[in-house]
Amino acid sequence: MTQDELKQAVARAARDYVADRLPQGAILGVGTGSTANFFIDELAAIKGRLGGTVASSEATAKRLAGHGIRVLDLNDIDAMGIYVDGADEIDHGLAMVKGGGGALTREKIVAAVAETFVCICDASKRVPVMGRFPLPVEVIPMARAHVARELQKLGGAPRLREGFVTDNGNLILDVHGLSITDPAGMEQVINQIVGVVTNGLFALRGADLLLLASPHGVQTFQR
Ligand code: 5RP
Repeated sequence: MTQDELKQAVARAARDYVADRLPQGAILGVGTGSTANFFIDELAAIKGRLGGTVASSEATAKRLAGHGIRVLDLNDIDAMGIYVDGADEIDHGLAMVKGGGGALTREKIVAAVAETFVCICDASKRVPVMGRFPLPVEVIPMARAHVARELQKLGGAPRLREGFVTDNGNLILDVHGLSITDPAGMEQVINQIVGVVTNGLFALRGADLLLLASPHGVQTFQR
């Protein structure tokens, strides 16, 4: 199976999960990236069940709207049952590295509101220790050099994501060379650096459920 076929399979499994578990008329959070895009395309089949969606990026909002799926402002809702999103890496405790698509801050905000975070991945994303995928850090532009120096002190090699501006008007530093043995600790330490908006570690609020596609089928892992 190709990686796209695996993404398609896990997207379908997530659609079925939402159809089974999300009460009629409830709000669904929708992530960003190529796996999330497959999921959005699958969602079109059950859009009548949804009270609306909250998008974690402008790109996702546009794709949802393209299917005629209602997109709401997060400030206008009180509760969100399920949030479905991909990841760049996920460990066995269901902590993740996210932000390969640069949407980490909005993803983290939407995840904070959701009751259940469902991560959808192909098997290449599951790792014993995260850090091989460079950790994205969203930074206020004037703090770029300062934050880069602080990240170096933590043992990382930050590189500016060239030509990229986030939906929030900020920059991304991709941090290479980290071995993330304490995801929650590192998430907190990096968030304390002045000028950091968010980092791509999702450990303090990790996934509750992982749907993982391999050529043998889609497996479910629970936290
Ligand atoms: C975007 C993300 C994505 O979830 C992550 O990059 C995975 O993307 P893909 O499904 O394309 O591999 O965090 O900011």
